[in-house]
Amino acid sequence: MSELLYIKTSANGERSRSSQLCEHFIRQRLQATPETQVIQRDLVSEPLPHLGPEQWDALRLPPSQLSAAQLAYRRCSDRLIAEFDRADTVVIALPLYNAGIPSQLKAYFDLLARAGISFEFTEQGPRGLLRDKDLHLIATRGGSLAPADDHQIPAVKQLLGLLGITRIHSLIADGLDLSPDSREVSLTNAYERLAALA
Ligand SMILES: Cc1cc2nc3c(=O)[nH]c(=O)nc-3n(C[C@H](O)[C@H](O)[C@H](O)COP(=O)(O)O)c2cc1C
Repeated sequence: MSELLYIKTSANGERSRSSQLCEHFIRQRLQATPETQVIQRDLVSEPLPHLGPEQWDALRLPPSQLSAAQLAYRRCSDRLIAEFDRADTVVIALPLYNAGIPSQLKAYFDLLARAGISFEFTEQGPRGLLRDKDLHLIATRGGSLAPADDHQIPAVKQLLGLLGITRIHSLIADGLDLSPDSREVSLTNAYERLAALA
């Protein structure tokens, strides 16, 4: 049975366009392959801790030197890495907030990227250690961005590349908050492209 990990990151609950697009894609995928097991990780309703000195040490010192809270953080990282690695497909809902990615998604990557576990340093540079997989980035934007100003999709691709993920497919629905017309055109376009992807 194949596993699909769905990562939600919008602060906008049920109104989130990135979540709606992802969920449409997943419904279509389930129609085509009903045996797919979907695991949902909502980073907003179940927030992960951000990095601080305690968390920094938790991922670097031997377990025997850690407090109970640090051990819990480290086990959380272990579980998230295993969950991500096991998935055959990952779908990430990716809203643009203040020119960047949601901070909850950054906290997730801070727990996922661990030297010696999910990537390693080599003489040729860092090398990802996680199983490659199809990764769908479904990005939403209120306006639009010139490629040089895009700190949304390239940032996520760079982090995923560090972990060894190369099969990254991205879809952008932009102009969603510019006008009703612009939103409708963008969403119609995005749903058409999703049908082709699924
Ligand atoms: C706090 C916040 C910051 C935002 N910053 C930007 C931005 O920098 N550029 C932009 O084009 N849209 C920005 N937007 C608009 C969102 O990207 C847009 O509403 C998108 O649909 C959000 O995704 P969602 O519908 O999945 O929540 C921002 C929205 C919020 C709530």
